[in-house]
This record gives sequence, structure tokens and C-alpha cells, in this order.
Amino acid sequence: MADKNREQWGSRIGFILAAAGSAIGLGNIWRFPTVVGQSGGGAFLLVYLIITFLVGIPLMIAELTIGRKGQTNIVGAFKRVAGKNWGIVGALGVAAGFIILSFYSVIAGWGVAYIFKYITGELTNLGAEEVGNVFNELTSAPIVPLFWHAIFMLITIGIVILGIDKGIEKASKLLMPILLVLLILLAIRSVTLDGAMEGVSWYLRPNFAVINRHIILSALGQAFFSFSLGMGAILTYGSYLGKKENIPGSAVYIAVFDIFIAVLAGFIIIPAVFAFGLEPGSGPPLIFITLPAVFGAMPAGNIFGLLFFVLLTIAAVTSAISLLEVVVAYFIDELKWSRKKASALAGLGIFILGIPSSLSMGVLSENLIFGMPFLDFMDYFSSNVLLTLGGFFTAVVVGWVWKTKNAVSEIETSGSKFLLAAPWAFLIKWIMPVVLLVIIIYGLFF
Ligand code: PHE
Repeated sequence: MADKNREQWGSRIGFILAAAGSAIGLGNIWRFPTVVGQSGGGAFLLVYLIITFLVGIPLMIAELTIGRKGQTNIVGAFKRVAGKNWGIVGALGVAAGFIILSFYSVIAGWGVAYIFKYITGELTNLGAEEVGNVFNELTSAPIVPLFWHAIFMLITIGIVILGIDKGIEKASKLLMPILLVLLILLAIRSVTLDGAMEGVSWYLRPNFAVINRHIILSALGQAFFSFSLGMGAILTYGSYLGKKENIPGSAVYIAVFDIFIAVLAGFIIIPAVFAFGLEPGSGPPLIFITLPAVFGAMPAGNIFGLLFFVLLTIAAVTSAISLLEVVVAYFIDELKWSRKKASALAGLGIFILGIPSSLSMGVLSENLIFGMPFLDFMDYFSSNVLLTLGGFFTAVVVGWVWKTKNAVSEIETSGSKFLLAAPWAFLIKWIMPVVLLVIIIYGLFF
């Protein structure tokens, strides 16, 4: 299965930026502030940070290592390191990629629509209520949001067709640094607003009374979603990695970059929400309703608004290509499809699966699944169940089937010693499977 002519990253920095590009996306800019807002601020932030270090980074190392060893898609890689039957874990990942991209593209599509609304002046100087109307009108319509969903999928498919170094790597190298600069500018603007400090302190000062098992599960799901873990995106990017690459070092860079952007996004959104007397727990539409209202009341707000949604789209595209790549790599490696055919057909299927998510904002809004609209259900189920389970199985496979000593020797083919090999192996083998299972079961069923 592993093939000598397999594509590889053109450079180390290209790989790190592409993997960071996968990690950094709607998860950081849209989902993170939303979850912080709903989970009571500073305490959630603390739980989240602990989870990213104890679970996120070790699992990212594990996924990169399986990928590089396997030199193939997620299903093939699990079969290669753990034996044929474990291919099923990989299949779970392909399914998760399919599902996540289907609703991800719907939300990203709203962002693309907002770019055009800023250009045409439709969002200029509006108050929260008026922006809310614009948002509801956009998202509850049957056809228009599907058009933007289609545009976003077409961009994603186009880049994935171009392949690893020409498409994904080039795009990431150019786009990620621009994103960083724009976010820093917006954060400075936001924390210097009148009254922003109350938000800053709500965001940073933990109130431990709010922590409960649901918050811990949602911090875990958020960490998996944001780090692109548990479904093979990072694994697949690892499979294009050369043997000389230092995996733990790269994982730390990617993770720190990802955490930094999420925390920064919090600094853009939460202080602004407080400065304008809005509600931090108002959920997924937060950035689509409260933020434009904030921009509307700011000098040069139109330009900041336009910049923000351009940047959101950029970040979403570099994540979406990694989601699609998991599915496409599977079709290319296992079914021997051409990259073009795999990208086009998988992309079409994902577009179609996104339709009910889009409609759940309007005509299907009364049809609830487990008490949630279809889109929220897809998000909850894929992040908190599929990804966390994928992480659990990754730890089991590396810890118990492939064995951590084989993983460590794969990591050390780079020529440098993995200094934290012993604590890493202990975490993966003993702590992770137990802790993940407890959080998942307890968070879901009790
Ligand atoms: N990490 C991406 C984001 O934060 C989303 C993603 C999830 C990408 C899972 C790949 C795999 O937007």
C-alpha cells in the first residue's frame, strides 16, 4: 500500500503551516468563543488548557507517528500498524471527516456570504437586532445558503485536486501568516473598546463553581475539534511527512499555534460582547450577529468586518481541505481512484449531506434530534462522540496493539532522541484510554 512515489511536503515550515492550517479554523474563531461563552468563561478556559496539554498534544504526536509509519490513508495506516481488523477505526475517521465537513461548509458558507454583504454595504452600521435579522434571513432561506455552501465546497475541492505541495502547502504558507496579523489587529481593537475590561476579566478569571461533567466533555470535544484530532486529518498530514522530521517538536508548534489563535479569538469576541452589553452565552450565531453589531458601532467598522470574514473564510478553507483530504486519501489509496475523481465525488457527497444541516436553520428548524436542530446535532455528535472515540481508539492502538516502544522508535528515526518518551508512553497507554472513556461515558449518559 505504501508507495514510493507518494507525495511529500516540500518543506518543514510548509508542513507545520499546513497542519496548523488544518487545526486553525472555525473551531478556533467560531466554535471556541461560542463554547467559552456558553460554559461560563475563565473556568472553561482553564479546563480546556489542561486538556490540550495532557490529551491533545500527546495524541497529536500519536497520530503523526501512525501516519508517518503507515505512509498511507487513515484506514490503511491503522491496518498497517495494528493489523487488518483495526481498519474499522480508520473507517470511523473517514465517516467523521465526511460528517464534519458537511456542516462545517454550511457555516463557512455563511462567512462567505457575509464578505459579500460587507462589500455591498448590507451590514454597514447596523445594531445587534438588525444584524440578527440579516443573519436569520440569510440562514433560514432554503436556497441561498446552499449556494454559499456550494461555493465553499467548490473552493475546497479545487485546492484538494491540486494536491499536497502545490495546493495545500502553497495555500497555507501564504494564508496562515496573513490570518495571524489580522487577528492580532482585531484583538487590539477589541480590548481597547470602552468597557472591554469587564469581558477580559470574565474571560480570564475562573469561576470554579460552573465546572461540571458536561463542561469537561465539551472541553474535550472542543480540543479534538480544534486540534483536528480523532479522525485522521493530522494522521493523513503525517503520512506525507519525511522520515527526518521531528514529530514531537512539530506537534508542540502546531498545538501552541492553535491554542494561541483560539485564545486570541476569545480576546476579539468576548471583550467586544461585554463592551456592547451583549450576551456571551448566545450560542453559535455569536460571531455572525454580535460581532457585526460590534463592528457597526466602531470607527472603520466596515473594514474590520470585511477583514474578519475574509480571515474566517481563509481559516475555514485551510481546515476544510484537511477534512476532505482524509476522505480523498482513502479513496485514492484504497480504491485507486484518481485524485480528481476522488475529490469531486467525495465533495459532492459531502455537499449533499450538508443540505439538511443548512435547512435545519429554516424549514427544518422544528425537526429536532435529541432536542437539537440537525446542524447542532451533527456538530455535537461528531465532536463529542466520534472524535473523542477516535482518540480513545488511537490511544488503545498505539498503547496496546502497535505498542509505544515501536511508536517511539518510529519517532526517533528522525535521528533525535524523544526526551519525553517515557511520560508520553505512560499517558498514551495507561491514562488516556481510561480518562477518555470515563469522560465520554459520564458526559454522555449520566
Ligand atoms: N480543526 C478545524 C477547526 O478548528 C476543524 C477540523 C476538525 C479539521 C477535525 C479537521 C478535522 O476549524
